[in-house]
Amino acid sequence: MRDQLETPSGLVLRQWADGDAHAVANAFADPLMRGQNNEPVDSPPAAEQWIGERRADWAAGSAFAFAVADGGGAVLGQVSVGAVNRRHSIGWVSYWTTPAARGRGVASRACQAAADWAFTDAGLFRLELGHRVNNPASCAVARAAGFAIEGRQRQKLAYDGIRYDVELHARLATDPAKAAHTVDYSN
Ligand SMILES: CC(C)(COP(=O)(O)OP(=O)(O)OC[C@H]1O[C@@H](n2cnc3c(N)ncnc32)[C@H](O)[C@@H]1OP(=O)(O)O)[C@@H](O)C(=O)NCCC(=O)NCCS
Repeated sequence: MRDQLETPSGLVLRQWADGDAHAVANAFADPLMRGQNNEPVDSPPAAEQWIGERRADWAAGSAFAFAVADGGGAVLGQVSVGAVNRRHSIGWVSYWTTPAARGRGVASRACQAAADWAFTDAGLFRLELGHRVNNPASCAVARAAGFAIEGRQRQKLAYDGIRYDVELHARLATDPAKAAHTVDYSN
């Protein structure tokens, strides 16, 4: 199972390393990153701990978090295949990019690469993800990476006392690389 990938556009997906702590702490300083981790990642020690958890999960085979870097090594974000369930060959995909890296297709390409890896290297069959319905950029990333819309979970998440619906997407190993807008439930 590869732990480093390179996309045709030159993005490098690799395991998180201790030397990434500064970049991780900076990334989590963005208010939009709230919700990406249960505990705050608001200091260098917290970032080191976060990286240690990612590496431990990888070693245990329970979640595979890839740092996404450019060709020069600068960290641009993360894409993760977590909640791995071997019994059913499923996983849960999530992603984020740093504010400076957004709007350039980084998350879409990284998500495509990680999904392909999950099917080929990790042997998974179904990948799921969800985003708040007020996060259209995340929806665009999901669809660009072949994750079809499957439905809506009502008021699933709460932030500052407000509850949000979550839209669910999934991609099967047998699905095309780009998602259609609607899903055919007939079979
Ligand atoms: C969501 C996020 C990962 C997108 O990362 P990114 O690297 O900018 O994504 P990409 O450049 O690959 O694609 C962004 C897509 O969203 C679209 N988009 C961006 N802002 C948008 C908006 N406000 N409304 C509609 N679409 C929007 C872009 O046009 C692009 O779509 P396109 O490829 O069809 O043109 C990034 O904004 C982020 O990290 N946000 C904070 C964390 C987060 O929300 N993670 C997802 C949790 S489910």
